[in-house]
Amino acid sequence: MPLLGVNIDHVATLRQARREYDPDPVKAALICQQAGADSIVAHLREDRRHINDSDVKRLRAELKIRFNLEMSINPKIVGIACRIQPDQATLVPERRQELTTEGGLDVVKNFKRLKSVCRHLSDEGICVSLFIDPIKAQLDAARELVAVIELHTGRYAETKTPVSLRRELKNLENMTAYGIKLGLTVNAGHGLKYHNTLSVAEIPGMHELNIGHSIMAHAMFVGLEAAVKEMVVLARTDKTS
Ligand code: PXP
Repeated sequence: MPLLGVNIDHVATLRQARREYDPDPVKAALICQQAGADSIVAHLREDRRHINDSDVKRLRAELKIRFNLEMSINPKIVGIACRIQPDQATLVPERRQELTTEGGLDVVKNFKRLKSVCRHLSDEGICVSLFIDPIKAQLDAARELVAVIELHTGRYAETKTPVSLRRELKNLENMTAYGIKLGLTVNAGHGLKYHNTLSVAEIPGMHELNIGHSIMAHAMFVGLEAAVKEMVVLARTDKTS
């Protein structure tokens, strides 16, 4: 049964819309923790468009569940991660103009730079995960650097026809099995919603799902605690029952 990591970036996005102090993403994280989330994900972007330095410090101090810091390999951000000491650092590609993380890291192309960042972070005792597209070559390269990967589920989540949905899901299943065969812990996330999470949660061996936007959108109507609890039920589906 996969674990659920809740991404709280969008709480900070709403705060930044007025550059004020609320809603407080740390307060949101504590509610997610109370509602049964297994970890909290926050992306400290280089442009600080939502989560800021004080948020990550407070998250580190106040969370009892795992803190997964999503981040680029920018040296300043890597320095902050080393000081903050999250339980996990998930490395993602980052472009200023994008609305959200648009694709996985190209581990093959950026192998050398990633190698030095992964080593730096793991020397600091931080577990490193690489956010990659579900492509064999990326898993092969990732396996040389880390023990944990997060498969990008964007193509699956955005697909429009039943045929392509089956194809993308099958690929996620195959790449999860392949990652496990390589000895990797396999997580997944991006674009997962209440209607399409169950199929990914049912993939044998899937370790953790990281979900943000759909939970926060639903929370607007049912409250954050209820929204997280509903997603916990979907993520922790027991396929043997
Ligand atoms: N995992 C990673 C690596 C991400 O970059 C994001 C988006 O910040 C998510 C999961 C969550 O995606 P969503 O907000 O679409 O659920």
